Amino acid sequence: MIAVLEGDGIGPEIMREALKVLKAVEEKYGHQFTLEFAPFGAGAYFSEGSPFPEKTKVVCDRADVIMKGPVGLAVERMNEIPQQYRPEVGAILPLRQRYDTFANYRPVRLPKALSHFSPLKPENLGDGIDILMIRELVGGIYFGGKVEGPTTHMQYAVDDCCYTEEQVRRVALVAFDEARKRKCKMINIHKANVLATSRFWNAVVEEVAKDYPEVPYQSVLVDNAAYQLVINPSMFNGVCLLENMMGDILTDQAGGVIGSLGLMPSACIGPNKGYVEPAHGSAPDIAGRNIANPYSMIGSVALMFEKCLNLPVEGKEVWDTLFAVFERGYTTNELAGGYPAEKILSTSGFGDMVVEIIRNK
Ligand code: IPM
Ligand code: MN
Repeated sequence: MIAVLEGDGIGPEIMREALKVLKAVEEKYGHQFTLEFAPFGAGAYFSEGSPFPEKTKVVCDRADVIMKGPVGLAVERMNEIPQQYRPEVGAILPLRQRYDTFANYRPVRLPKALSHFSPLKPENLGDGIDILMIRELVGGIYFGGKVEGPTTHMQYAVDDCCYTEEQVRRVALVAFDEARKRKCKMINIHKANVLATSRFWNAVVEEVAKDYPEVPYQSVLVDNAAYQLVINPSMFNGVCLLENMMGDILTDQAGGVIGSLGLMPSACIGPNKGYVEPAHGSAPDIAGRNIANPYSMIGSVALMFEKCLNLPVEGKEVWDTLFAVFERGYTTNELAGGYPAEKILSTSGFGDMVVEIIRNK
């Protein structure tokens, strides 16, 4: 069973397209997927009193895999929600913690033929971008101890950043395994010139590296990585390993490099269960207008096939089809610069075209 958490904002409309694509693959390959919908996010706070209600936990616990849309509403509406019930700290982080989804796959893909989507000059894009960013997702500063508010006469706040050997090792293994499988390099991104957690992180990663002599290993400081990512992004083609906070920031930057966060699907994998979600937010400003790009949500279906359901052929079919839509000369609203109006697909138009290609191939 697949738990479906549509989320807020553009969540329901991009999820609808992802489910159409899921259905098309289901029919073509003779699978049978059962879906169970459950409330999650800011809307769930208003309707159920919690952004991650008990009944949703029950559905997710029973599910083999979870499809999650983006969450969050417009600022004024969010301000009505007490801090601990906001969807970030009240739903997303608890979801990650509940299933210990430590490995966050964020592929950054822009074939050379689509270089015009990027705000960078084509000559900076090399032969295209194909980076798999792997972000540690349940450790570090996100989950460390926190102090907030005036606790003494002096006001201050603290966020602890902590990594254990086991936390680093398991995600490093995932990154090296992926690099071995793809026959590419593994780039470790860190801030070891300043942070103790980074020095420790590197020591563990380099220990793991010894078991992968055939995988070229490189280590890059995070500030330099941010710089290189816009000067020479294709130098990262391969697998990049990042701790939680650096991964949050550089994956958004990578979305910018390829032209849109709308091109950033993701999968969050734990020891027993995984879930998939777009790496972007719920874009409440464009919700309900049928103009959001559903690529990230549909790409998340591809990742679900590959990383959660062990269906690599189905996964590849969805990826190929997503690129086929662009290769036919179509685009989505936020990437439309220079395209004639008849080539700009709506949210549902994009989903329909993906389905049509899958059916007829
Ligand atoms: C992401 C998001 C989340 C994060 C937020 C919404 C908690 O930005 O998945 O990248 O910071 O991890
Ligand atoms: Mn983020």
